Amino acid sequence: MADNAKVKELVLKCMHAREMAYCPYSRFPVGAAILTADGAIITGCNVENASFGLTVCAERTAIQRAVAEGHRKFTAIAVTCDIKDSFVGPCGACRQVLIEFGTDWVVYLTKPDGSYKETSLKELLPLAFTPAHLGN
Ligand code: THU
Repeated sequence: MADNAKVKELVLKCMHAREMAYCPYSRFPVGAAILTADGAIITGCNVENASFGLTVCAERTAIQRAVAEGHRKFTAIAVTCDIKDSFVGPCGACRQVLIEFGTDWVVYLTKPDGSYKETSLKELLPLAFTPAHLGN
């Protein structure tokens, strides 16, 4: 994967993105930072809504921003929330949205103190339904 400095930057940026979360209902801020194949970092936070089902998770905010800015190749994502005592993975919906853009992502599950556990999208979403099943 990316060099250590880049991973550190990715982790710091997902923690900063968490501070931007709009989550007045859950009070559960989440931050995400995506590393693109060309080295850019695009961040996202969860954005809640009074109509709860319209809430968008941090990971999906980040990927939608990334695609809208012209990125479609990604190498890693770092995700963080306020839970201190365990490494927390993205929700199932976000795993599916991420795997749309490739199965080989590295995923850094990040605690608020900046420590992280490295995993992969493949590991988080085994036997996934992907664009390949539609011939894409
Ligand atoms: N949330 C995320 O942003 N990402 C996830 O992977 C899990 C959940 C958000 C949605 C909602 O705003 C809050 O966390 C509580 O579910």
